[in-house]
Amino acid sequence: MTRIQSAGTLEDLESVRVETLGRKGTLTLVGKEMGKLAPEERGRVGKLLNGARQKLEEALEAGKKAFDETELRARLDSEWIDVTLPAPGARRGHLHPITRIQRELEDLFASLGFAVLDGPEVETEYYNFDALNIPPEHPARDMQDTFWLDGGNLLRTHTSPVQVRGMERLGPPLRMIAPGRVFRNESVDASHEHTFYQLEGMMVDRDVSVAHLIYFMQTLLGAIFHRDVTVRLRPGYFPFVEPGFELDIQCLICGGPGCPVCKQSGWVELLPCGLVNPRVLRMSGIDPEQWNGFAFGLGLTRLAMMRYGIDDIRQLQGGDLRFLEQF
Ligand code: DAH
Repeated sequence: MTRIQSAGTLEDLESVRVETLGRKGTLTLVGKEMGKLAPEERGRVGKLLNGARQKLEEALEAGKKAFDETELRARLDSEWIDVTLPAPGARRGHLHPITRIQRELEDLFASLGFAVLDGPEVETEYYNFDALNIPPEHPARDMQDTFWLDGGNLLRTHTSPVQVRGMERLGPPLRMIAPGRVFRNESVDASHEHTFYQLEGMMVDRDVSVAHLIYFMQTLLGAIFHRDVTVRLRPGYFPFVEPGFELDIQCLICGGPGCPVCKQSGWVELLPCGLVNPRVLRMSGIDPEQWNGFAFGLGLTRLAMMRYGIDDIRQLQGGDLRFLEQF
């Protein structure tokens, strides 16, 4: 009994149990000798033995319980949690760089009186091509590799069809922009994606001239880059504008000498634009004798690459958080 009370560990208790109650334990051995006793003695000795066994078992049990409690208390002391501590901050996302630029431009154009319009990504041939003066056999259809869908519809290759929808819906005079996703059936490399973003703009009013166009384009570029950007204007051909221009900016990734983004030319085509072709106005029910306008199609994806110095277009849609978290 004293050994039970002074046991320091569970193992000490276990060895007491083995030595007394185990198969070769003292009490067990004594029990085996019972047969040698006189029959009248057996009852008395048996009772004594059983009493001793019971006492031992109870004492061992109590000792084990004491150990369990000590262990439990130790665990409660070491494993507690301070529920009043502030929780670790939740990880927060943020806007994609293209969304950021898109929203900035929407705010800018809204402040200049432009409506922000939306159009469908699945378009009809009419809106994507015909109404923009690109009839079926027109070679300009080959300029844009198109994803055709069953039933003759297509994934819009540019945001220009929203010009047509805007003219039909709002009528002249009209100022609108239409940002959105466009799709081209192209092989993908550092500067080409099958899915990218454009921002279409259009103004229809009386006596709109190239001077108006240039003024708006300069305002636009100044607001985007917050610095002087070297630009050049070249003649450009698009069936829906006449005259048409390509507004290029000097490549902001390499600063001129050439890199994969500017295809080693030092210039990046950013802003094709022009005065709206009278045929396009007429097809949308606007009298070109009374009204004219300008239009432009800004490459939002290219713009984001220029502004943030991204040299591979594939990163923008790649979904890699290590890339996105930098913005
Ligand atoms: N839609 C043309 C494209 O994606 C870009 C464009 C050119 C839009 C001239 C215009 C424009 O509004 O006037 O290639």
